[in-house]
Amino acid sequence: MNRKQRRAAGRRGPASVTIARAPATAMAPPPQALAELFGAALAQHKAGVLPEAERRYRHILSLAPNHAESHGMLGIALLAQGKINEAIPHLERGAALKPDLPGAHDDLAKAYMTAGRPELAIVATARALELDETERRRTFFAHCAKLVLLDRDDGRLGNLVLRALTEGWARPRELSRACISLIKLDRTVNACIVRANAAWPRRLPTNELFGPEGITALSHNRLLRRLLETDPVTDLGLEHVLTNTRYAMLIGAADGAVNEGLLDFYCTVARQCFINEYVFGLTESEAERAGQLRAMLNTALAAGERVSAPSLAIVASYFPLNSLTNARALLDQPWPQCVDALLGQQIKEPSQEREIAATISILTPVEGDVSRAVRAQYEENPYPRWVKAGPPGQPPILNHRQTERPLDVLIAGCGTGLSTTEFARHAHGARILAIDLSLASLSYAKRMAQNFGLTNIEFAQADIMKLGSIGRDFDFIDSSGVLHHLDDPWAGWRVLPSLLRPGGAMEVGLYSERGRRNVVAARAMIAQRGYRPISEDIRRCREDIAAAEDGSLLKSLTRSDDFFSMSECRDLLFHSQEHRLTLPDIKTFLADNRLQFAGFVLPPAILRRFAIRFPEPAAVTDLDRWNTFEAEAPDTFAGMYQLSLHKPA
Ligand SMILES: C[S@@+](CC[C@H](N)C(=O)[O-])C[C@H]1O[C@@H](n2cnc3c(N)ncnc32)[C@H](O)[C@@H]1O
Repeated sequence: MNRKQRRAAGRRGPASVTIARAPATAMAPPPQALAELFGAALAQHKAGVLPEAERRYRHILSLAPNHAESHGMLGIALLAQGKINEAIPHLERGAALKPDLPGAHDDLAKAYMTAGRPELAIVATARALELDETERRRTFFAHCAKLVLLDRDDGRLGNLVLRALTEGWARPRELSRACISLIKLDRTVNACIVRANAAWPRRLPTNELFGPEGITALSHNRLLRRLLETDPVTDLGLEHVLTNTRYAMLIGAADGAVNEGLLDFYCTVARQCFINEYVFGLTESEAERAGQLRAMLNTALAAGERVSAPSLAIVASYFPLNSLTNARALLDQPWPQCVDALLGQQIKEPSQEREIAATISILTPVEGDVSRAVRAQYEENPYPRWVKAGPPGQPPILNHRQTERPLDVLIAGCGTGLSTTEFARHAHGARILAIDLSLASLSYAKRMAQNFGLTNIEFAQADIMKLGSIGRDFDFIDSSGVLHHLDDPWAGWRVLPSLLRPGGAMEVGLYSERGRRNVVAARAMIAQRGYRPISEDIRRCREDIAAAEDGSLLKSLTRSDDFFSMSECRDLLFHSQEHRLTLPDIKTFLADNRLQFAGFVLPPAILRRFAIRFPEPAAVTDLDRWNTFEAEAPDTFAGMYQLSLHKPA
């Protein structure tokens, strides 16, 4: 192979190694002899003598270059020896020679993943899934989808991502990137984004934005529709299009009738607006017009008149329907299915939560200015408003501990209960106590847990600072995104290990000083402009950030998922109480409180980079090394430090 050919081969994929071919004149041995040679190689492989197995597979391939099994097994043997770039071409060849063998595509997908190429891994897994669908393959597909932005699709990936979102192969938020990248491959959607961005913040006339088909043009994209009903859309360009769409719905309201397909889409947009808690920007005249439409509906409802389905959907895109006077009367009337779903979301579910609130016990008082202010924030904006859970989750303790009695678990600051629900679905036998300051959050969490039929969670209102008084202890404690909102996070954190049994485990999520430089910049801007933690000002602040210079710290916030809903954006930028911590301080705390650090929960790509920087195995539990790593890559913990900890037995 000459240099040009080598370069071309290198461009094809991660591996630039070519496969040795036998001379054209070589005679392939008879099948029986090949089978014996392969059997002998396999025996070495199974015995763990990998270099010898490798030598033997290579020998077979020198005699029979198209021996699919040898390519596949050689690839696996090479992978096991860490020779990823050599392994991949053999696995590719094995899969090409046996395209109907799902296992060949599985092995290839695993190798691509190890090589840090999830965009190739997802295609290989999709092929394996098509051939034979199993739970393990669905999970692996979702795992790949979490890491990719897709730049092409013949429709197959789109279908699988749609199923993943619908059937809960992963949390919707984890599928968001893949999903949005696929939605943007739709030429119509993409053209709308380009036009909306170019005109932003000006709203465009409907036909100028969507073309002659109007809003219907957007409604054909099934993935977009499903995403709108499932999770906040975490992309600025799409948000601009949807903001325009809502406006087009409003100004078209005077026209009255819309067809059934379009009504369905209106309801979908309204569901998105409720999920993101009406975070989309709003001009003054638009707010006025939406208010007038709501007033008209109120008048009609008060007079016992029937209101039109499209006008309900339009109002529901600006205000939750339960803010209408006499909203419950709407439930007594027959509606198309899409309107029923909307009424369920915006009237029935909030009303169920109010009933549930009365059933939640109070374990400790909530005292002190900080706890009370934090509680008030999450009463107004329970965090986060989730719709679909991911698959049952498994915290590390269940891998390591076998115990006769049920596990006692504490979720300290459970919020609206997303991870609590996922955990409880996995750990059927566990007794879970989930506490929070906010009754609204707990009620949301309890309603969702009831939807899953879970009976092993006790939800209670309590302040972490007072948990020492409840006289209970636990095998596992989870407190993610909570302690940095306490008046004194260290004091709060000290309460938790005191409730942990010896040998127990804990997972704690904490803000990083370095990781939140952009939030610090935004908080300074918010203080300077006098923005208050109310919807109007949060919307204004988002507009400022979206308009910030590309590449600036402020603009980087638009890459954070939390930017895209009201409760999450308030939590991100407007929190009444926020501490940011450093690894040296955390290290001192762990030593003082006899807690062992067992590692960070991080994406595989970051763990791989860390292992290259600090190859010695013990480094992964060395906070000094992590501190150096973070200094060199300050965005490593832009989300949080997610620490896994153990209390010695
Ligand atoms: C950012 S949310 C995180 C919720 C959840 N852990 C999650 O990861 O989705 C923080 C939650 O901690 C709760 N919280 C804050 N301070 C608390 C305290 N002192 N005691 C109990 N809960 C608290 C808040 O009410 C809020 O629901």
